[in-house]
Amino acid sequence: MTRPALLFVCLGNICRSPMAEGAMRLAAEEAGLDIEIDSAGTAAYHIGSAPDERAQAAAWRNGADISGLSGRQAVEGDFRRFTHIFALDGSNLANVRQLAPSDSSAELGLLMDYVPGFEGQAVADPYYGDDAGFEITWNEVNAAAKALVAKFQA
Ligand code: 4NP
Repeated sequence: MTRPALLFVCLGNICRSPMAEGAMRLAAEEAGLDIEIDSAGTAAYHIGSAPDERAQAAAWRNGADISGLSGRQAVEGDFRRFTHIFALDGSNLANVRQLAPSDSSAELGLLMDYVPGFEGQAVADPYYGDDAGFEITWNEVNAAAKALVAKFQA
C-alpha cells in the first residue's frame, strides 16, 4: 500500500485544520503509525500565520503542540501529493472539489464522514466563539483522528 498522506482542510488554516493536524499527529504517534500529515486552508487570509492562540491552547491542554505550524493555502499539487484530503465542513469540501485538478489522485471527503455515528456533520467554525468552542472542536477532530488511525491501521 502507498504510504498514506493526509491533508486536513478548513477555511483559514488557523483553527480547525491545524487542530486536526495536531490531533492526528498525536494519535498516529501513539499508535506507531507512519503517515504524512499536513493541513491547509481554502482561503488566503492567514498565509504564514501561526494557529489562533485559542486553538494552540486547546491543543496544548490535550497534549498536542501546534505552535510551530504556519498557515498555508491549498494548492493543486496537494491533490497529487496527498492520498486523502479531508474537509472540515461542507463548504470547504465544495471548495476543495472545485480546486481539484483533473489528474487529482486524492480521495476527497468530509472529515466527520469517517467517524461512525457522525457522518454528514461539520466541524463547526469556532473562530467567532469562545474557548469552550475550541474544546468542542478539539473533541471532534480528536474523534476523527482516532477513527482515521483505526482505518489506516486495518
Ligand atoms: P478556520 O477558522 O477555518 O477553522 O481556520 C477561521 C479562521 C479565520 C477566519 C474564518 C475562519 N477568518 O474569517 O479570518
